[in-house]
Amino acid sequence: MEMTARNPSRTALATAYLRAAHQILDASPRILDDPIALRLLGASAERRIRDSAERYAAPAAKALRAHVVLRSRFAEERLKAAVRRGVTQYVLLGAGLDTFALRQPVWAAPLRIVEVDHSGTQALKHSHLAAAGLGLPGNTAFAQVDFDRESLHAGLVRQGVSLDEPTFFSWLGVTMYLNEMAIDAVLASIARFPTGSEVVLTFLQPPRAASAATDLAERVAELGEPFVSRFTPQAMADMLRAAGFGTVRLFAPEEAAARYFASRQADLPLPRTTEIAWAIR
Ligand SMILES: C[S@@+](CC[C@H](N)C(=O)[O-])C[C@H]1O[C@@H](n2cnc3c(N)ncnc32)[C@H](O)[C@@H]1O
Repeated sequence: MEMTARNPSRTALATAYLRAAHQILDASPRILDDPIALRLLGASAERRIRDSAERYAAPAAKALRAHVVLRSRFAEERLKAAVRRGVTQYVLLGAGLDTFALRQPVWAAPLRIVEVDHSGTQALKHSHLAAAGLGLPGNTAFAQVDFDRESLHAGLVRQGVSLDEPTFFSWLGVTMYLNEMAIDAVLASIARFPTGSEVVLTFLQPPRAASAATDLAERVAELGEPFVSRFTPQAMADMLRAAGFGTVRLFAPEEAAARYFASRQADLPLPRTTEIAWAIR
């Protein structure tokens, strides 16, 4: 258990706003259908988004929104496939204001879902759930873990997660806020789960030029959550293999474009890179 409380993550709130904005500003069919996103953010969220429509229409904002909805859609499709092959637990690492548990489809009902985050962000989520009158479904629990200070393994054991069941992990928009040692420790905890367990994660690449990527780095640093680690796709793949994952893949932008963008209006830019990796034990 964490000894000192942390502030709620402002980037968790920011990505929740991006998913909510996708529901009201972007064309249907959406990349991610998330009818709970707006409700969880509260009564003023829709007006705040509409009032900032111009900001949300900027090319860099659209690219970031496309990335955020793409990573959730992709992770949830990998989860669905994992459930078909016998995965029984879904652990969201750095869950933030993710809404999967609240809008889970019927195929997820047999899953045990555990949302992992540090105390500050979990407090934020509890207050949003309460204000929105939303209760967590019976198959969902919270585990409080600070990846910088405690092993994921210990946190999951404390929560009663079975280490003998094949388990699916999503780790979306989190590795860039951790140092390499903390990332390695989390991967080592995941790799203790049985064969068939899987992780879908995102990472940040080294900047190619002083560009939009640098603007984003400045903005998150201003929010008090600076980017601390970046990996080339090759380095991330090497890290996953070294942690003990047998199958390691990078989700190619061409595949993302064909699967999720080609069949909808071109109001969001095609990803030039996905920075999404998945790996199976
Ligand atoms: C950009 S948000 C992403 C949230 C969510 N996965 C999403 O896609 O919207 C980063 C999340 O990582 C969590 N996080 C950052 N550092 C952490 C740490 N050391 N331990 C646990 N969680 C952490 C934050 O609390 C926050 O929820």
